[in-house]
Amino acid sequence: MAITRIHNFSISLDGFATGEPQSLEAPFGHAGHKLHEWMFATRSWSPKGAMGADNAFAERHGPGIGAEIMGANKFGPPGWQDDPEWRGWWGENPPFHTPTFVLTHRPLPPMPMEGGTTFHFLEASPQEALAVAMDAAEGQDVRIGGGASVVKDFLAAGLVDHMHLVQVPITLGRGVRLWDGLEGLEQDYSIEAVSTPSGVTHFTFSRKAPVAD
Ligand SMILES: NC(=O)c1ccc[n+]([C@@H]2O[C@H](COP(=O)([O-])OP(=O)(O)OC[C@H]3O[C@@H](n4cnc5c(N)ncnc54)[C@H](OP(=O)(O)O)[C@@H]3O)[C@@H](O)[C@H]2O)c1
Repeated sequence: MAITRIHNFSISLDGFATGEPQSLEAPFGHAGHKLHEWMFATRSWSPKGAMGADNAFAERHGPGIGAEIMGANKFGPPGWQDDPEWRGWWGENPPFHTPTFVLTHRPLPPMPMEGGTTFHFLEASPQEALAVAMDAAEGQDVRIGGGASVVKDFLAAGLVDHMHLVQVPITLGRGVRLWDGLEGLEQDYSIEAVSTPSGVTHFTFSRKAPVAD
């Protein structure tokens, strides 16, 4: 059965998934690249990257995924809806290669890109968006791609089956936090933690099977 997954979602020790302010020049605000340096050093990101433990986690991002859901602030800087030229951060061949649903209160017509990605813009609840994305994924899994607010909303709605979270040993002090309002989340998941030599800790949250009556 197809499931809903999150991969490579990186947070600081104090729980921030992005810094501030987000802008065209600084998509992660004052966090810069600090949250993803572990990933940039892996083979899954760069042909010269390392093939160690971090890579084993990072490369699970793509296989078996048939659609992605992301938030408006991952797709572009504030105000991108007013820029008719804006087509996302990733150039003409984005790294998604599937239908990709952008949640926004200002939806636009679909945006076909090269390499199999089409951006669709949706104003919908998490449940509605997931139903549309599952349909588009044609039996494969749906990835919730971020940012922090969208991941938090899908976790709060109980819609995430598997989450790979990476805690990076930095403190950001400000930005958008993942955990606020998610009290007791651990009760719904089997959680494993693996620290790697790069200094990050990988957590996997796998939804517990419902207890039979
Ligand atoms: N740490 C990581 O691994 C990671 C991964 C991915 C992204 N990021 C970063 O996270 C940041 C973005 O996160 P964020 O929390 O600011 O924003 P976000 O989750 O990307 O997007 C939130 C926005 O999406 C729209 N939206 C959300 N739910 C909606 C719904 N149900 N219906 C309609 N619109 C909806 C709203 O925008 P509008 O009202 O403007 O339409 C909302 O303000 C970026 O800096 C990005 O680079 C980090």
